[in-house]
Amino acid sequence: MSITTGAAPGEVGGDGVHLENIWKRFPGVIANAGAELHVRPGSVHAVLGENGAGKTTLMNVLAGVYRPDEGTVRLNGIEQNFNSPADALAAGVAMVHQEFRLIPTFTVAENVALGSSPVLVRKREIEQQVSELADRFGLQTTANREVWNLSMGERQRVEILKALWRDARVLILDEPTAVLTPDEADELGRIVATMAEDGRSIIFISHKLGEVTRFCDTATVLRGGATVASSMAVEHLDAANLAELMVGENTEVSQRRARVHPADLDTPVLTVADMRVLDSHGITSVDGVSLSIGTGEVVGVAGVAGNGQRPLADAIAGLVDSEEGSVVVAATDVSAVGPKDRIAAGLSYVPEDRLGVGLAPKLSVTENSMMRSYASVGRGPLIDRAAADAQCTELVDRYRVKVGGLHHAIAGLSGGNLQRLLVGRELATDPAVIIAAQPTRGLDVQGVRAIQDVLIDQAESGVGILLISEDLDELLALSDRIVVMVEGRIVAEFPGEEATRALVGQAMTGGA
Ligand SMILES: Nc1ncnc2c1ncn2[C@@H]1O[C@H](COP(=O)(O)OP(=O)(O)OP(=O)(O)O)[C@@H](O)[C@H]1O
Ligand SMILES: [Mg+2]
Repeated sequence: MSITTGAAPGEVGGDGVHLENIWKRFPGVIANAGAELHVRPGSVHAVLGENGAGKTTLMNVLAGVYRPDEGTVRLNGIEQNFNSPADALAAGVAMVHQEFRLIPTFTVAENVALGSSPVLVRKREIEQQVSELADRFGLQTTANREVWNLSMGERQRVEILKALWRDARVLILDEPTAVLTPDEADELGRIVATMAEDGRSIIFISHKLGEVTRFCDTATVLRGGATVASSMAVEHLDAANLAELMVGENTEVSQRRARVHPADLDTPVLTVADMRVLDSHGITSVDGVSLSIGTGEVVGVAGVAGNGQRPLADAIAGLVDSEEGSVVVAATDVSAVGPKDRIAAGLSYVPEDRLGVGLAPKLSVTENSMMRSYASVGRGPLIDRAAADAQCTELVDRYRVKVGGLHHAIAGLSGGNLQRLLVGRELATDPAVIIAAQPTRGLDVQGVRAIQDVLIDQAESGVGILLISEDLDELLALSDRIVVMVEGRIVAEFPGEEATRALVGQAMTGGA
């Protein structure tokens, strides 16, 4: 079924972006199967779809990263044949990727003007011009600061400034709010509105449907690489309608989850005492954290990114050393042992860094899936391939990981599919406690629901869960207790049923 309420391909005039009948194939996967997209100037247009629906691929076609196998890209009525992102940029199309591409030791101004200014210019002048541009679009930044000390939200503003500096008329933001706090996301909403008022076309990819209804005026939905709804007016839709269009059914993800078995706090499965961690610069990143998780308890960790959540998780898992403090998993003191022994003691870790700590991009789906379970597929020194494939098939089915083939390298999987594979693998080891860091980041509605269901099931069966998330709604929906981290310390704690967005949000910004 195809719903078209906006500009139909035949009747468009010269304006804006028109992608028609775009096909893009990868080995074993058709990422775009005749997709279309029409975006007017002055519009903030959402591109929606489940994990693996082909959103990023389609945007890469528009931004000159990929050449389509078939189909046309037109800008203001003129057919384009981009061979590189530079070609697309010259034609006015810029894309802000989810991993930022900034040089940390350069200032904001240097990053913005990099490669597009005459060699001999006064640094001061560029800083001045960058500041003016930033002011014009309400992008708060400090032109002479070096990028490494900026928050994720500020880095993103630098990426947007880079696009504005080159006078991009079409700006693609691929899941821009995945790394932002709720306040930063609202700020971004205001910025894109200003850019749209200026006559630019903004393409906004997000799985957070609440944002889509707040920030976007029109939306296109992809399913299985094809467009199933084109240029719908968002005004008359709510998050539930959009979710339905994406997956074909109604789903609600942020309701507080009822629990059948209450947590048993007298039998902790994880006890962390007085933990202190230094970062690679010798600066304290975790500053005397103590916490305990009971059997079947979900403890949520809230906080603005970069306030020690990640080093805390890494240190509990034994991936980084702690200066002080102890970690007890179930009844075993694991303070002095490495990550493998901690896993053996019953600790499981879903790190936020999927590729790297979590998964090996060059290995196949099967190889990645069996990294925690050699025992069950090993035959002496050999691996039983059939058993490994069978085990992997089960995992892929259960967590609905969309893969081209079990023996393809996972490098080609979409972000959400990588996460499903990782979470599935980590939960398959029967742990006593799970540290889940941003477990649903970048997942579509169904994916979020699936992972949350698994976490709740685990808690119901007695597993303790340390849930680190930047998604407040998720924390509020799942946690029995929420602790808030600011500058490496736990500054506030709320029982799950008393926690509210406002209370936790206030504590996150240090206002508790
Ligand atoms: N470079 C690549 N090599 C092989 N397969 C790829 C490549 N890029 C994407 N794919 C596959 O194409 C399909 C579409 O992926 P894409 O990244 O466009 O999805 P998406 O809609 O952006 O998903 P997500 O919401 O998870 O980011 C997926 O099945 C993915 O595994
Ligand atoms: Mg994507």
